[in-house]
This record gives sequence, C-alpha cells and structure tokens, in this order.
Amino acid sequence: MLNNKTVVVGVTGGIAAYKTAEIVSRLKKLGADVNCIMTKGAQAFLTPLTLSTLSGNPVITDMFQKPEKWNVEHIALADKADFFLIAPATANVIGKVSSGIADDFLTTTIMATHAKVIFAPAMNVNMYNSPILQENITKLKNLGYYFIEPQEGNLACGYSGKGKMAEPEIIINHLLDFLKKDLEGKRILITAGPTREPIDPVRYLTNKSSGKMGYALARCAQQRGAQVTLISGPTNLDRPRGVAFIPVESAEEMLVEVKKFYLEQDIIIKAAAVADYRPQSYNSQKIKKLNDDLQLQLERTPDILSFLGENKGNKVLVGFAAETNDLKENARKKLIKKNLDFIVANDVTLEDAGFNYDTNKVTLYYRDDTQQDLPLLSKDEVANCILNEVNKLLNKE
Ligand code: PMT
Repeated sequence: MLNNKTVVVGVTGGIAAYKTAEIVSRLKKLGADVNCIMTKGAQAFLTPLTLSTLSGNPVITDMFQKPEKWNVEHIALADKADFFLIAPATANVIGKVSSGIADDFLTTTIMATHAKVIFAPAMNVNMYNSPILQENITKLKNLGYYFIEPQEGNLACGYSGKGKMAEPEIIINHLLDFLKKDLEGKRILITAGPTREPIDPVRYLTNKSSGKMGYALARCAQQRGAQVTLISGPTNLDRPRGVAFIPVESAEEMLVEVKKFYLEQDIIIKAAAVADYRPQSYNSQKIKKLNDDLQLQLERTPDILSFLGENKGNKVLVGFAAETNDLKENARKKLIKKNLDFIVANDVTLEDAGFNYDTNKVTLYYRDDTQQDLPLLSKDEVANCILNEVNKLLNKE
C-alpha cells in the first residue's frame, strides 16, 4: 500500500517512543521507505539502533551528522518525503514548529518540506489541555498540518486523562486515510459555521457554531483530491488552503450562494448551523432601550437543505443534525424529510462534542434504517469517516 512512498518518522522525547518502533515496523511492511529522525530527548527512551534495524535505513540523530545516504542533508530528505509522521510529538516540538523555530535536524526538515506533516501528540493531560498547546495545535491545523488525537487513559506520569499517544494500528489507519486521493476529480460543496440574522445595525441572532466541523470536512476533502467550495458563515478560523471560499452572513445569503454552485457538484455536505428564524423586519437604526419589554417578531428562514433535497439529482447529499434530545428519532425525521443519503447526528449536550470543540462524537443514520456510531474523534477524523461513507456511495453508482 505504501510502495514507492518515502516516509519520514520524527521521534521526540516521550515514553510513547517505544510504540514508534512498532509503527516503523508496520510502515516498512506496508512497503514504505522509512527514514527516522530522532531528537536528543527521543534517544533517552529508544535507541537509534532499534529504528535503523526496523527501517533498514540510517537514523539521523544530529544536525551535523555526515549523511550516509542523501546528497544534501535535511533538504534532500525534506524534498524526498511523501509525508512526515511525528510520533510521539511532545508539546515542545509542536510549540517549536508553530513558532517557526528550526534548531535541530527534525524541526529544520519539517520547515523545509512541502510534504504532509502529521503529528501524533503524547504528553501529560494538563500539558495537553493547556491553552498554549491548544492554540499551537489550532494554528498548525489552520496552516495545513494534521493531528491524530491522543487517547484517554492512565498516563505514564501517573495522571489519568487525555494524552496517551494513539495506538500504532490507529495511527497507521489514519495515515492511510490521510494519503487517500479517492476524491480526485470530484466536486464537493460544504457549508460551515453559523448564520447571523440581523436585527438592527448592531445586533443579530446567531448560534454557537465555530465552523470547525465544516472546515475540517473542507480540509480533508481537499487533501483527498476533491475540488472544494466552502460556503461559510462568520467564523474566527483561517480559510483552509486550496479551497474556493465564499463568505456569507445570513441564511438567505447562504441560500443564494448555494444556488449558484449546487448544480455542478458531485457531493454536498451541509455542516452549517443555519438559523431557523430571523427577525421579520430589520431596523435600519439601532433600536432604543425602552422601559417596557421588547417583542421581536420572528419568521422562518429558507430551509436550504430541503431545497437541495428537492433538487438532489444523483448528487450525494449529506446533512447534519444538532440535537439535545431524541437524537435518533429527530435525525431520522430530517434524513427522510430532506431527502438525504445519510445524516450525521450530534448530541450537542455531550462533553467534548458538537459546537466549538475540536472533537466530536456522532452517529451516522442511513436510509436503510442502519446506523454507525463513531467514538469520540477529532473533527478531522470525523470528517474522514464521513468522506469514507460518501466515497462508498459514489462507488455504488
Ligand atoms: O461548527 P462547530 O462548532 O464545529 O459545530 C459543529 C456543528 C454542531 C454545528 C455541526 O456538527 C452540526 O451539527 N451542524 C448542523 C447544525 C444544525 O443546524 O442542525 P439542524 O438539526 O438545525 O439542521 C439540520 C440540517 O438542516 C443541517 O444540515 C443544516 O445545515 C440544515 N439547515 C437547517 C436550517 C435551515 N434553515 N437550512 C438548512 O439547510
């Protein structure tokens, strides 16, 4: 599966480095040319000899080591790589890469590469949850780097929580997903984020959507070779690279843009949290505070997904459902009423799932009454699972 692929495995200083030996061995068995770079810290946990024996290649441990194999040290390896896997990735290496620090062979090579770089973090739960680390991860994701979510469990430091590096099998499966180009030649329209329904020049109705789920779908679809159009309500996220980006504010504006693009699509995924109601009239001047209560008359917004369902043709059409109760019943109703191929339902009352989190826990409901419950995953991983299902449907036709 990885024949003719060059993989660079960067190992940094964490106890999870012992699992990297198995990852290297599996990558080699899948046919990859595996080249390992170990930081000083990594060598305290694992010997270079182990990784050179398993990979069949010399291991780079030093910036100024004489290259045994490449013509021009780190640049040659950066150019040659199809992808980089940093496992385990410490808070330190994530911080360095996100700050543009290149002070050893690994960080220098990461900075010089155009290949995909995938981090598998491993660290203490409090370090993982620290706002600094989370900000660095968000920054790197927005710049096009990938992350394989660590797992919950008992950590080597004696704590329990999220921070365990994902198991080798999970990492290998994600790597294979990240390398897929199975949507090459397909056009996909994704909507993301909230809508804003204006009340007056300074106020609007909106909801808690951050856009993270829809942007993850756009990023992953683009990375799998699709031609992506992302119609987004207002968010604080950076625009994913390589994606046609259409910013909108209200449900009405989103509908107008969707109508411009929907006919030429193979796939449409509606992750946006579109307001169901808007103020019946817009006050062109700021509404003044009164002594009495204020009544706002609301009217329905257009249901964009229903419009798409009525005009589905042979496109794959996927909706989302954000529910606080009766998940299955409500999601199934929307699936049928809006004429979808499948619906991605999230219970937005769950911890770590739904609005604004970097993770999500969803169930996919299909037209034949079956369902697939996914575990808690990063939004990128959820996006790839959804795209796997979309791809199955495309290949059925
Ligand atoms: O953006 P994040 O912070 O990452 O959060 C992700 C999310 C929770 C917003 C996302 O996972 C999600 O569930 N999106 C759909 C939210 C929603 O509007 O659900 P709904 O059950 O109200 O709508 C059902 C479907 O109809 C959705 O696909 C929605 O886009 C669509 N819809 C709804 C109303 C409307 N007027 N037009 C629509 O097209």
